[in-house]
Amino acid sequence: MDQQVFIFDTTLRDGEQVPGCKLNTKEKLALALKLEALGVDIIEAGFPISSPGDFESVTQISKHIRNATVCGLTRAVKKDIEVAAEALKFAKRPRIHTGIGTSDFHIKSKFNATRGEILQRAIQAVTWAKNFVDDVEFYAEDAGRTDNEYLALVVEAVIKAGATVVNIPDTTGYCLPQQYGEKIAYLRNHVANIDKAVLSCHCHNDLGLATANSIAGAVAGARQIECTINGLGERAGNTSLEEVVMVLKQHKHLGLYTNIHTQMLNPLSREVSEIMRVPVQLNKAIVGANAFSHSSGIHQDGFLKDSLTYEIINPEEVGAEGSKIVLTARSGRSALAYRFQKLGYDFNRNDIDVLYDLFLKVADTKKEIEEEDLHQLAKAYTPEPALA
Ligand code: KIV
Ligand code: ZN
Repeated sequence: MDQQVFIFDTTLRDGEQVPGCKLNTKEKLALALKLEALGVDIIEAGFPISSPGDFESVTQISKHIRNATVCGLTRAVKKDIEVAAEALKFAKRPRIHTGIGTSDFHIKSKFNATRGEILQRAIQAVTWAKNFVDDVEFYAEDAGRTDNEYLALVVEAVIKAGATVVNIPDTTGYCLPQQYGEKIAYLRNHVANIDKAVLSCHCHNDLGLATANSIAGAVAGARQIECTINGLGERAGNTSLEEVVMVLKQHKHLGLYTNIHTQMLNPLSREVSEIMRVPVQLNKAIVGANAFSHSSGIHQDGFLKDSLTYEIINPEEVGAEGSKIVLTARSGRSALAYRFQKLGYDFNRNDIDVLYDLFLKVADTKKEIEEEDLHQLAKAYTPEPALA
């Protein structure tokens, strides 16, 4: 039986931490409603103690979201947890996300503490949060660089204290997919009470491995993935929601699914890009402007014979406008014939041979041949009268 991977969207928290991406309460609420419509299971609405504005955003989102779980971030600090609980008090399904750094880098440099002290603080934070909500997620910050044996100790202790979800963040985007998958597998095999909690992946993209690491985590048994629209997030970003969702949809043999309505992915990506003022890179998987564009002659010829030769996803499935045959100096005759045909011209094979030479002359002087150029070419071309 296939198993669900819960999608925990943190566009409004980790994504909003990106310089220039800050949103006001109205914008955050509008986006939260869209994320709920998209089908995400958990919305991380913000970090309530960080500012009065964020407190208000989490409060408003809690009031208006009906199906998804609404989550607020805290440090392992009593006051943070109390403020988050207050902001979440109207939520139908509230979750407090609390945690602390568990790698030796964090323990020594950030906290000037010992592993034992951090373990106690982790337990106290979860125990305190449980006074306010049933659903408590614990994050072991920098788990990617945390010693597995110590991490297992922390995970077991916070589950015993009542954590319902345990987040294993690769905060610095350091891990290799195999390493991250093995970390999840290690926890599943060495934490006695692991079946009482859901393991979550929260992978950053510093080495471009966030999606691969999250998938490796899910394959190894994690059942929640934390991600953002367009992969927004600290530094090089977080895991892209659209990528992990489509990887699981494409690779059905993994036996994992999400409840995301994939036709909404492209429209929502554009909205997030506009509201957060971060353009989407052209070659971004699933939502980039070139994700369904074909420009070289070899690819175009194959695609026009059968789209499956060069496309693994139907653009409609992810709400993209459709496949595009782009004309450049690398394009071939089939593409040229196709584009003329789309404009209503009825050229035969010989016509196209002649037109193709004209086309190449123009294409070598331009980045891309536009519709207007094609009309000009057609006008300039006078077919030889057919021999009687
Ligand atoms: O990257 C990280 O470790 C985080 C935690 C606060 C969950 O964003
Ligand atoms: Zn993060």
